[in-house]
Amino acid sequence: MSTETQARVGFLLRSSYVAKVVQNMSSSSSGPATCQSKPAELEREAPVPYIDTDFERLSIELKQKQEKMREGNSVKAMLAFREKLPAFKVKSEFLKAVTNNQVLVVSGETGCGKTTQLPQFILEEEISSLQGGSCNIICTQPRRISAISVSARISVERGEKLGETVGYQIRLESKRSAQTKLRFCTTGVLLRHLIQDTDLTGITHLLVDEIHERGMNEDFLLIILRDILPRRPNLRVILMSATINAELFSKYFGNAPTIHIPGLTFPVNELYLEDVLEKTRYTVQPESGNLPRNSRRGRQQQESKNDPLTELFKDADIDVLYKSYSASTRQSLDAWSGSQLDLGLIMDQLEGRKYGHLGPPSTASCCCILWKQLLSISVAMKVLKQFWSSLLFLVIPLHGSMPTVNQCEIFDRPPPNVRKIVLATNIAESSITIDDVVYVIDCGKAKETSYGALNKLACLLPSWISKASAHQVAFKRRGRAGRVQPGVCYRLYPKLIHDAMLQYQLPEMLRTPLQELCLHIKSLQLGVVSTFLSKAIQPPDPLSVENAIELLKTIGALDDREELTPLGHHLSKLPLDPNIGKMLLMGSIFQCLALTIAAALAYRSPFVLPLNRKDEAEAAKRSFAGDSRSDHIALLKAYHGWKDAKRYRNEKSFYMRFQFLDLLAGIGFVNKSQANAHNQYSYDVEMICAILCAGLYPNIVQCKRRGKRTAFYTKEVGKVDIHPGSVNAGIFVFPLPYLVYSEKVKTSSIYIRDSTNISDYALLMFGGNLLPSQSGDGIDMLEVAWTGAIKKKDQGADTRYVGGGKRCSHNT
Ligand code: CDP
Ligand code: MG
Repeated sequence: MSTETQARVGFLLRSSYVAKVVQNMSSSSSGPATCQSKPAELEREAPVPYIDTDFERLSIELKQKQEKMREGNSVKAMLAFREKLPAFKVKSEFLKAVTNNQVLVVSGETGCGKTTQLPQFILEEEISSLQGGSCNIICTQPRRISAISVSARISVERGEKLGETVGYQIRLESKRSAQTKLRFCTTGVLLRHLIQDTDLTGITHLLVDEIHERGMNEDFLLIILRDILPRRPNLRVILMSATINAELFSKYFGNAPTIHIPGLTFPVNELYLEDVLEKTRYTVQPESGNLPRNSRRGRQQQESKNDPLTELFKDADIDVLYKSYSASTRQSLDAWSGSQLDLGLIMDQLEGRKYGHLGPPSTASCCCILWKQLLSISVAMKVLKQFWSSLLFLVIPLHGSMPTVNQCEIFDRPPPNVRKIVLATNIAESSITIDDVVYVIDCGKAKETSYGALNKLACLLPSWISKASAHQVAFKRRGRAGRVQPGVCYRLYPKLIHDAMLQYQLPEMLRTPLQELCLHIKSLQLGVVSTFLSKAIQPPDPLSVENAIELLKTIGALDDREELTPLGHHLSKLPLDPNIGKMLLMGSIFQCLALTIAAALAYRSPFVLPLNRKDEAEAAKRSFAGDSRSDHIALLKAYHGWKDAKRYRNEKSFYMRFQFLDLLAGIGFVNKSQANAHNQYSYDVEMICAILCAGLYPNIVQCKRRGKRTAFYTKEVGKVDIHPGSVNAGIFVFPLPYLVYSEKVKTSSIYIRDSTNISDYALLMFGGNLLPSQSGDGIDMLEVAWTGAIKKKDQGADTRYVGGGKRCSHNT
């Protein structure tokens, strides 16, 4: 241990330093942050220019401006386009229903004009009737990118600049003015707004978009809204959904009226795998499971030159595909897992190439590949194979955590003779409408979090999408292009798989760990968490709620009475997983900013394993790790190497690093201008390991020697294995007795991903609840006693611990 670390550690042991620092921060008004301070994004958003309270004058101004803009040719052309959208047909019915009902549910197919038109109808109506000055319309979006793109689109439709009457607000970024009357914000931003305005008094109309997706934030918001409505008779709530399941929401709000927007009922040309195989002249013989020996040659002779799919499948491995197909017809849905044609893999590879060795792996697993028909697909695939270096292709990845810059090139028309290929995650499923899409390729899988409350195991694994999602994806090709030229949706799975898919995806609240949500409920003072959550449309498993509360207590965010501790207050202001939030806070307290690691954990490891250069990539990762026995250190070093190469700006998880710095600066934990100076501590490996322990606790594994090997045990599930992708895989000897890990995943076995070998000192001091124990005799160490390696030997002043075979004595 370095002298500096030892000094810090000694200080910590003597005086429960951390607990005091955290407490001082919240009790002293002159400290870096206070419990009462506003949430990070509210404080950090761009200052809203002078709010005009002269409603009458503002209303007249807005009306005059609206009328003037309508004279313009571009707005007239836009209006002609808008009037053809199915949403326009229900305009007066919609406006009447909004006037007469507190809650209204509107459903319609993707692209019919819900998001762009319905809020605009309200806005225009309010302005025309001289109510513009006092109205405040908010429309929530599950994702940042849609908040920006939709507000930009509406501004164009109205002939205005973005930020005039229509604006947006997302975490740490907003575009609006005193004249802004319609604001698109992420659901997260609205939820945080509730902290200072519990009854949403400043809002006249609230449109909640994409509720059919059943995202956790949206389901959470609906519970709150149902409570607010009786207190706010003038508030109008409009719930917007795809055609699926609209009745569910209507029922939840006491049979609220529903408007369905008819239209866009073009026949869907959906091709399943067997249709494609048919085209390649394979005789589909599910029972045989064997391919004709000369199949490949035979196919090549017969394939049709003009059929894009023939080429696509030729370039993938059709033999493997066929085998998977045969297996799937004989067995079950699960058997259909090993397809080499998983576009997720192809996309990982492609994206990895674009971004270089450490490029972002794709979040894109439900891959819609969408492209414009300018060149034939066979050429497209060939070019893609040659790293798509040709200028004739514009390949744009589309995913939710992309930096906001460059997001909009997705919507732009490519130059003549350039084919636009969008590699998209399921974000393209409903919230983003790309006009010029002709082909959609649906691989049928999406990365989905699932959570097992019993073993507290959260996994992010590719799983089959639901029938409802598959339907949405098909509709993607029915944007404007789909109405003027034929579009096709290719499904890379057999019809049989489709039939076995779930009707709807399980709501997020029922398949994710709930700690962040519970913390949010506490910060909004919504009462007992379990009681509150029992009011949800589909309440989560009580055991999941219990686990979340227990975890929050363990990490010191909640006290025994389930109230927020000072640490909990700070964590609730960070829109992050509480563990990652704690890592950031502890990092800033100890001047060892764990930004890079936290960013990578919050997103996903930036290491890509290109299929054909896997060994090379793994070796590179191991060399970054050195002898640290840490995936996290490997990651940090890789980042610094990359930063030196000046290529980091495009990378999404590292983009997040800057956002985290903003968040910490927002709540007063770091001084942004000094943040670079903090970086000098980043290479203090022991300190980083301790901060990792603080953040990742209770994700602890005990390393036990078994002869020449080491076995790994966790408290919840017993024996686990180290993920083969970890730098610690295949290592038999660990110098320190514990590992902290980022997540457990269950595939063939239970694996821990990304781990770091830590000492018992780190666990002792940074693990668990660092608040003073009830008796007030310093840090409560009992939490770490479960492993049996550290035991409280006596209760006297000189408390002894036995750690990992060594004996050590500390004073508490
Ligand atoms: O919300 P919904 O899926 O019902 O549709 P929307 O997002 O309001 O889009 C309605 C139509 O506007 C789409 O079909 C597109 O043709 C067009 N649009 C566009 O051209 N550019 C955008 N950024 C958004 C929509
Ligand atoms: Mg929409």
